[in-house]
Amino acid sequence: MRYVITIAVFLGVLIVGAALYVWFGVYNIAATEPHWSITSSLIEAVRERSIEVRSEDIQVPNLYDPKFTEAALPHYHEMCRLCHGAPEYPPEEFAAGLYPHAPSMTSGDLQKELSDAEIYWIVKHGIKMTGMPAFGPTHKEEELWGLVALVKEIPKMGLEQYRQQIKEMGLTEDMSHGHSHEESEHEHK
Ligand code: HEC
Repeated sequence: MRYVITIAVFLGVLIVGAALYVWFGVYNIAATEPHWSITSSLIEAVRERSIEVRSEDIQVPNLYDPKFTEAALPHYHEMCRLCHGAPEYPPEEFAAGLYPHAPSMTSGDLQKELSDAEIYWIVKHGIKMTGMPAFGPTHKEEELWGLVALVKEIPKMGLEQYRQQIKEMGLTEDMSHGHSHEESEHEHK
C-alpha cells in the first residue's frame, strides 16, 4: 500500500510540475534557441526510425523514365528550391531562419543517406514541426515520384543543365506556383 501511495504522490508532483512548467512559459519555443544535443539526438532517432519503418514496403517505380523528372521540375523549381536550393540557386533568405535547417539538395549528402522510398515518404507526408511540408495532399503520384527522381538527379546537375531544363519548360526564376508559362525579362543574378 505504501508503495502505491509513494508512486501516486510522485506522479502527482510530476504532473503538477509539468503543468507549472507549461503555465509559466519556461520552455523557450524560439527557432533561434537550439535544442540541447540530447534532445536533438532523440528527435533524430525518432525521425529516422519513424521514416524507415513507414517506407519499408513502398514499391519504387522505374525512376529513369524521363516522364517523372519532367512532371516534377516545375514543382521543384517553384517550391523545394526556395528552402533546399538548386544548382547555383541558393535557398531564399527566409530559409536561413528555419529550425531545423532545410538540408542542401546539391551537396549530395542527403541522397546518400536516404533510400528512394524514404525520400518519397518524406515528400508525400512531410515532417511534423519542422517546416518540411507534405506534398501528398496537393500533388499527383507521378509528380511525387518525379520529385524523388529529381532529388536524386540534382547533385549531378550543373547550373547549365538545370537552367536549360527550366527554360525548355518555360519557367522563370520568379514565377509563382501557378504554372503560368509567361516569360519574364528577369535574369538570374
Ligand atoms: C518551407 C521550406 C521547405 C520546403 C518548401 C521544402 N522543404 Fe524539404 N525540408 C525542409 C526542412 C526544414 C527539412 C528538415 C526536416 C528535419 O530536419 O527533420 C526538410 C527535409 C527534407 C528532406 C529530408 C532530408 C533529410 O536529410 O532527412 C527531403 C528529402 C526533403 N525535405 C525534400 C523536399 C522536396 C522534394 C521539396 C519540394 C517538393 C521540399 N523538401 C520542400 C523544408 C522545406
